[in-house]
Amino acid sequence: MSAYQIAIDGPSGSGKSTLAKGVAKELGIMYLDTGAMYRTCGLAAIKRRISPKDPAEVKRMMGEMKLEVKFIDGVQHMILDGEDVTGQIRTPEVSVAASDISALPVVRTAMVDMQRDIARHQSFVLDGRDIASNVLPDAKYKFYVTAKASTRAERRLAELQEKGDFSQSYEEVLRDIEYRDEQDSNREFSPLVQVPEAIVIDTDLYTIEGTREFLLSHINEDA
Ligand code: DC
Repeated sequence: MSAYQIAIDGPSGSGKSTLAKGVAKELGIMYLDTGAMYRTCGLAAIKRRISPKDPAEVKRMMGEMKLEVKFIDGVQHMILDGEDVTGQIRTPEVSVAASDISALPVVRTAMVDMQRDIARHQSFVLDGRDIASNVLPDAKYKFYVTAKASTRAERRLAELQEKGDFSQSYEEVLRDIEYRDEQDSNREFSPLVQVPEAIVIDTDLYTIEGTREFLLSHINEDA
């Protein structure tokens, strides 16, 4: 098969990235986490102490900062102004800043251009909010991954606690998820949407392996 793309969209904590990583590994293709790119922009605003909601400040920041995506042994690293910040972008503070900053067109245009450029020449799994609807509307395969907000909050909390972060309660995590759902779905520029042709995967209904098998069955059918 020549280079092809798999688009996986869905809300925060739906299990997209676990699924996308597993599928990429199984198929021996690359994985691009587009959320990590918005997270890096959010982190850049925090580091510069500017509001991620201020269009003028963010526009200036985007002109000044240098964001790179590097793949080291097939693993994505985010480089901000020459520093590898991959380990700094998963905090609750960065999650909220990423959701805020990703609503601004100046940020989206720059990230979407980079994403198209990265995924053009090789087979890629991409996960995000607007992959099928905007970044790669011609992607060969399109999936929409979802789960109840309560399940997603439970997963997020477990993930944070596994990393030794006990700073947030279940209620706080749920509130963050609901805040991001609301913003990511209702922003003016390329919000999270489920394109009609996407195959829907409800991760409440399957195990991680079951979800992966279900997705792969659609790819194999067609190969
Ligand atoms: O998938 P994530 O939680 O790491 O994404 C972080 C934020 O980035 C999320 O709140 C919405 C935004 N995002 C986006 O707007 N478009 C994408 N393709 C990916 C993420």
